[in-house]
Amino acid sequence: MKINNYNFRYGLFLAPMAGVTDRAYRALCVRYGAELVTTELVSAKAVTMGDERTFRLASLTEDEHPAAIQIFGSDPMVMGEAAYRLMKLSPEMIDINMGCPVPKIVRNGEGCALMQDVEKAGKIVENVVKSVSVPVTVKMRIGMDENSLNAPLLAKVCEQAGASMITVHGRTRNKMYSGFSDCSEIRKVKSAVSVPVIASGDVGLTLKGDEAYSLTGADGLAVGRAAMGAPWIFAYLKDDIDGVPRRVISDGEKLSVIKEHIDRLLFYEGERALCQMRTHLAWYTKGLKGSAALRRNINTAVTKDDFYTLAESIFAKC
Ligand SMILES: Cc1cc2nc3c(=O)[nH]c(=O)nc-3n(C[C@H](O)[C@H](O)[C@H](O)COP(=O)(O)O)c2cc1C
Repeated sequence: MKINNYNFRYGLFLAPMAGVTDRAYRALCVRYGAELVTTELVSAKAVTMGDERTFRLASLTEDEHPAAIQIFGSDPMVMGEAAYRLMKLSPEMIDINMGCPVPKIVRNGEGCALMQDVEKAGKIVENVVKSVSVPVTVKMRIGMDENSLNAPLLAKVCEQAGASMITVHGRTRNKMYSGFSDCSEIRKVKSAVSVPVIASGDVGLTLKGDEAYSLTGADGLAVGRAAMGAPWIFAYLKDDIDGVPRRVISDGEKLSVIKEHIDRLLFYEGERALCQMRTHLAWYTKGLKGSAALRRNINTAVTKDDFYTLAESIFAKC
């Protein structure tokens, strides 16, 4: 699959996840085979107001390219202006969020609400495309609810407005994250447009890499929750696609990835990284022997050594 000059051999992408896909973690996913990573959603309005925290969330590091910055908003002018300003962070793509189900965002006519205002969605894409020199992509759900499954129509409008790729999460807004991702609805989007379509939903959880491709007919796969605490999922999914047994990643390798994540987070975020690191460490150790006790003690971890010791204590028990 190709977008502009970028060739994606496996089409394995890291899905944007607010509070999860920080720059330290994205780089680790790239190392294990994610071919495109996306920042968590950032507010276009906040970007245009020069908000420092928002720019930090959108910042990219050298070892995570190609990377997209995802923006959300409802005003075509503001979205265009934000995309233009974000170009100074050197993303390879700008992604527009049309799938966020969070009530506060939907109430503002942003995120998934744009699925109900196809005309405005088209104007947003058109304006962002005009404002930047990199490909503009869109991420959506299959519809707001079971009675309005309009992703194929919206995808077509976005394509006509200049979008270079469409990612579809196979759930409605009403479903949030419950049930299973509907692969047949993603397939309908694939039939509706000629630009690449990326399937999102349950990849690496209930769907192996090869299954996700055959059920959706998509050109690529975006991996979300399966990558939480497991950046190595991309290596496993590559093996699925190649039709070979999944490789074994040793506990020693996992522990050293966790330590590197801690180091990088502290380097980029300083003290602000503590909360994030606690959450990541809980995911890294989920299901392992002693992880329940770790979660009880995790709030006492404040230094790098505390985190190292907690992680080591779990892996020593495996
Ligand atoms: C904690 C969390 C945060 C998310 N944040 C975003 C986001 O910022 N932007 C976005 O487009 N999707 C977001 N998503 C949706 C994911 O990108 C993805 O489409 C969804 O989780 C389904 O894929 P999965 O089954 O692989 O997790 C988020 C999902 C989760 C679980």
